[in-house]
Amino acid sequence: MCGIVGYTGPREAYPIIIKGLKRLEYRGYDSTGVALQNGGLNVYKKKGKVAELEDSIIGKNLHSHIGIGHTRWATHGEPSDRNAHPHQSSSGQLAMIHNGIIENYNQLKQELINKGYTFSSDTDTEVLLNFIEEIKKNNDCSLEEAVRVALKRVTGAYVILLMSADDPETIIAARKGSPLVIGVGKGEHFLGSDASPMLEYTKEVVYVNDYELAIVKPDELVLKNLGNEKLTPYVQRLDIELAAIEKGGYEHFMLKEIFEQPQTVYDCLRGRLDAVEGTITMSGIQQYAEQIMNANRIVMVACGTSWHAGLVAEYIFEELCRINVEVEYASEFRYRNPVINKGDVIIAISQSGETADTLVAIENAKSNGAIILGVVNVVGSSIARMSHAGAYTHAGPEIGVASTKAFTAQLAVLTMIALKIGYMKGTITQKRYMNLLKELQEIPEKVAWTLKHSDNIKALAEKYKDAHDFLYLGRGYNFPVALEGALKLKEISYIHAEGYPAAEMKHGPIALVDENLPVVFVATKDSFHEKVVSNMQEIKARKGRVISVITEGDETSASLSEDVMVVPEADEILAPMLSVIPLQLLAYYIGLARGCDVDKPRNLAKSVTVE
Ligand code: M6R
Repeated sequence: MCGIVGYTGPREAYPIIIKGLKRLEYRGYDSTGVALQNGGLNVYKKKGKVAELEDSIIGKNLHSHIGIGHTRWATHGEPSDRNAHPHQSSSGQLAMIHNGIIENYNQLKQELINKGYTFSSDTDTEVLLNFIEEIKKNNDCSLEEAVRVALKRVTGAYVILLMSADDPETIIAARKGSPLVIGVGKGEHFLGSDASPMLEYTKEVVYVNDYELAIVKPDELVLKNLGNEKLTPYVQRLDIELAAIEKGGYEHFMLKEIFEQPQTVYDCLRGRLDAVEGTITMSGIQQYAEQIMNANRIVMVACGTSWHAGLVAEYIFEELCRINVEVEYASEFRYRNPVINKGDVIIAISQSGETADTLVAIENAKSNGAIILGVVNVVGSSIARMSHAGAYTHAGPEIGVASTKAFTAQLAVLTMIALKIGYMKGTITQKRYMNLLKELQEIPEKVAWTLKHSDNIKALAEKYKDAHDFLYLGRGYNFPVALEGALKLKEISYIHAEGYPAAEMKHGPIALVDENLPVVFVATKDSFHEKVVSNMQEIKARKGRVISVITEGDETSASLSEDVMVVPEADEILAPMLSVIPLQLLAYYIGLARGCDVDKPRNLAKSVTVE
């Protein structure tokens, strides 16, 4: 959580930082701030989004060739002007921004209070900053040395960017557990939580690793470890175009990302799936194919939408590979001392590749001998690097906080892995394998068809937007889709929604059903269909309002539904990539109709880099 940006070089820093912060607002947006250098350190900060800060400092002298900026997702201390970053040290000589949590900040704070320090915010960041200043003063050392000493005392996660009033050229940066990218330009450097703030200036970047410290000047980038040994920065060339992180004419990123799905699923399959030759090329998976085939179990570890993708994959892997699969919330898995046997295969699923719980969960499993495979979207992210191997989802940057195109791409990748392993293992016949490859190749077109036939969903959103609760029901492969539909609605529209296995609703939730309750059935034609139709009857008999996602031409389900959203026919294993799309749109349009900020829903952030 939190977005950080920095710049040092010949250009005006402020516009670069503000534009960068707007791109990083997906990481948090409850307060914003910048620190610049002109005749000393100047800090401007404010509760609210980046645009509110911008408006509040019109007319100020913002001229500076160095600066740092922050967009916050509050952890310690409510969203307010005083808790916004950058923070300044007691002397006013240092300014710092921070993404992460300093877990032992209370202890450090007490030490500082005993030395007479007072604090003007409730944040852990201000504590760390003054701790650095105190070390510098006491040891009469350089700022770089003070940072190194301080970080050795710190537990928790951080990326920090630090500027000093007496050095108008240098930004000191360090990372552990939160992402940091440094863009290398000609006589200038850029820093960011991801590469989006620097894309129009440079494609050459360095991903900083945990326990590394960077001393960044316009002409020089020095990378060291906390032991003060110099490291050679590994400069990589980015393969992202600016257009990929812009709205491209859509009102919101979420809508753009929903409509990108025919292309993103296609990109994910491209170069891997050959339905004519009957091959799936995934080199990372190939490398560990023997271990996967022989694994006693596969554990999918993820959070949120990615966890839902893991649930769909559980059904697919068990069906095609006959391997026992468990699906775990990363936050539970990491803390409950799970049994991990050597040779267990863990599949970490993450769009951002930076989700703290998922990262630590796989770190623990790896140290216990498990094989870690990453199904990750962001190239070079922490989870991707922590994994032994894996497969990128290639969905491109996902900026809307609600995950959409990442989910369908995750399903495409996981399906390919299951098909490859199942075929190699002999748990799937050649005929079924070839059919599924062919069908999978057709999915991008079917996604496009679904979007083309979605015009009625906006009107449905108007009709149901004032409901207080929604129930989402599905069975089999569509049960996780029901969960995903409910999650989308909750986060975008703030309407309470629950996803349930359709049969399980008789064990409790059916008590909620009355003439006011919209019940969304994910009822595509599959082997569970007749059972789902019975569940629809049960809801209808209790006057619930049935809305269904149905296969085109399914008159039975249509006749039981007050409203329908249609998808084309598909094999049940692949159907979730289609049935989720109307639910994404329904959530989007309901959120819009209720006046919600769909790209930046309250209290949320795109990358959850704190536990
Ligand atoms: O980046 P990740 O896939 O690891 O993120 C996991 C969840 O935080 C994420 O899916 C979250 O639930 C989304 N807001 C859902 O739309």
